[in-house]
Amino acid sequence: MSFEAAEFRRILGHLATGVAVVSSTDPESGVPRGLTANAVASVSLDPPLVLACVEHGAETHECIERAGAFAISILGADDETIARRFADYPADRKFAGAAYHTEVTGAPVLDEALGWVDCRVWATYDGGDHTIFVGEVVAGDAEDASPLLYFRGGYGRMDR
Ligand SMILES: Cc1cc2nc3c(=O)[nH]c(=O)nc-3n(C[C@H](O)[C@H](O)[C@H](O)COP(=O)(O)O)c2cc1C
Repeated sequence: MSFEAAEFRRILGHLATGVAVVSSTDPESGVPRGLTANAVASVSLDPPLVLACVEHGAETHECIERAGAFAISILGADDETIARRFADYPADRKFAGAAYHTEVTGAPVLDEALGWVDCRVWATYDGGDHTIFVGEVVAGDAEDASPLLYFRGGYGRMDR
């Protein structure tokens, strides 16, 4: 059984998720790259592993491969503008409007993030037109704030 892309998107769009920015820094040029992503998850506690699924054609994909590291910045309820920026803007204009800093690996962590992890690539797996990057968490933090959500193609917020 195979699904049309539109039907696949419609069905999976019913799974409400958080929203994050997955990012890395090119080791030679020092240029940061990042994309809005909801295909991120925790994987393992010992060792502490997370995953991010990144489309082969994304600028961020090559950057993560070259750097061997990435960061996941979890977006807060007021960060819809950042989510749209990192999904829609040209790669070289995304970070111009988003303050960031680096932690251990050199991957950019967004200052606005309500939580973040900094990871070294631990394994990569074939995920069809995406690569599943599994990262070992080497640093991270989070604050007590409300998340940005994504559901059926639109952004929402959960306040608590
Ligand atoms: C809500 C949302 C979630 C997304 N999740 C992913 C994802 O998990 N993986 C991915 O590769 N692209 C995802 N995208 C698409 C990328 O953000 C988009 O293709 C981006 O422009 C690629 O940037 P780059 O080429 O600068 O790396 C998502 C987009 C949106 C709006």
